[in-house]
Amino acid sequence: MQTKIEKIDTSSALAIKIIETQDESGLDFLSFREKLAYANISHPEKKREWATARMAIRDALDVLHVPYPGFFKDEHGKSQAMNGHGYISLSHTVGFAGAIYHRDIPVGIDMDLIREKILKIGFRFLDKSELGFLETDPLHYTMAWSAKESIFKCQGKRGVSFRENILLEPFDPKTGTIKGRVRGTDYTDHHYTVQVRVISDVVLTYTIW
Ligand SMILES: CC(C)(COP(=O)(O)OP(=O)(O)OC[C@H]1O[C@@H](n2cnc3c(N)ncnc32)[C@H](O)[C@@H]1OP(=O)(O)O)[C@@H](O)C(=O)NCCC(=O)NCCS
Repeated sequence: MQTKIEKIDTSSALAIKIIETQDESGLDFLSFREKLAYANISHPEKKREWATARMAIRDALDVLHVPYPGFFKDEHGKSQAMNGHGYISLSHTVGFAGAIYHRDIPVGIDMDLIREKILKIGFRFLDKSELGFLETDPLHYTMAWSAKESIFKCQGKRGVSFRENILLEPFDPKTGTIKGRVRGTDYTDHHYTVQVRVISDVVLTYTIW
């Protein structure tokens, strides 16, 4: 399976994998609870995405020499380590799954396919100021969407609205970083720097709290 693993620093790493047909024997590292969760996914494509994202976490952990602890979802849907150590985030999109791990600080990752139709739903997730600086360009909109997804996953709490609570500073579609903040919630005034990559027709973003 093709994988890109990146050690960000001594405390964090990310891995991106191309989703391929699953060899189930390659999933022995999963915890008992995760094996049950996997068995309960009925849709074959969702099953592959789910499993590949867990393999990506394992690869990111391997590069930091951290044993795979197993993960469970908290009440907000965010994955937490079963041994209480470290932070992860994961994402899957058509063809790719990815994960990021940090030993000490919350993280968020997102991957999205660049699609024309995102231009039609901008009003749902963008503030007026963001609609003002974004070009009518699917790449620019997808970068904004994905940056908000990464920030959302990093903060982890349900009920945070992309349009009302996550505000991005103006950015250029060629940029490698997007700055944003969460406002109007318990996390008001927390500022994030989101890293951005474009891999063929997919936007990858990640942020470290
Ligand atoms: C939950 C949400 C973050 C999932 O994102 P997505 O783009 O649909 O899917 P991705 O593949 O990128 O990410 C899925 C992963 O997000 C993670 N996730 C789910 N809820 C999460 C949360 N509250 N915090 C952090 N991570 C979360 C899970 O690990 C999930 O993967 P898994 O099911 O394999 O465990 C997304 O549904 C969302 O953004 N909800 C917020 C609601 C919102 O405001 N939407 C936009 C309004 S226009």
